[in-house]
Amino acid sequence: MTNQSSPNKKHTLTQLFSAEEIAARVKALAAQIDKDYGGQEILMIAVLKGSFLFIADLVRAVESPTVIDFCRLASYGSATQSSGIIEIRKDLEMSIKDKHVLVVEDIVDSGQTLESLRNMLLNRQPATLRICTLIDKQAHRVTNVQVDYVGFSMDDGFIVGYGLDFDERYRDLPDIRVVEGV
Ligand code: IMP
Ligand code: MG
Repeated sequence: MTNQSSPNKKHTLTQLFSAEEIAARVKALAAQIDKDYGGQEILMIAVLKGSFLFIADLVRAVESPTVIDFCRLASYGSATQSSGIIEIRKDLEMSIKDKHVLVVEDIVDSGQTLESLRNMLLNRQPATLRICTLIDKQAHRVTNVQVDYVGFSMDDGFIVGYGLDFDERYRDLPDIRVVEGV
């Protein structure tokens, strides 16, 4: 475990998952996804910004043919907690009708972001719709949205790194760290 002070010294970051652990989980998820999709083309949707590194690694790890699109959602709330009010900031560019869609999320926390997105996507009539999240954070779940692929499960705590931010910082860290003292 590393313990590192942030530049402004107001909080500390402690490693939770190393870059090697993340790479191993991505590889295992990719193998599972390849098995489940049986060579069918997958339309992977990255929910920006948090999943940009995860999807970059995931598309390179799967052997299934993929196409990629991006969307950006915004939920009103504080830096560490979402309010449940979700707005589309950037919509998909591709049609998902009759496609095998895999949503790639960074974290499912309350589940509200994913629940809204899932309903929005189902209205567009994909052939199938599955969800993959790097982190399944269960302590604040208020929906029972089903997640098909989970990288890591954790109970509580605010994390950064590997795409995840705290007020837009730390997305560039290669590992995942818990923010303490916020
Ligand atoms: P939900 O609607 O509460 O499930 O919010 C999920 C979204 O909140 C994630 O996609 C992240 O963008 C953000 N989020 C939740 N927990 C964390 C965290 O620990 N670190 C960074 N972002 C988080
Ligand atoms: Mg997100």
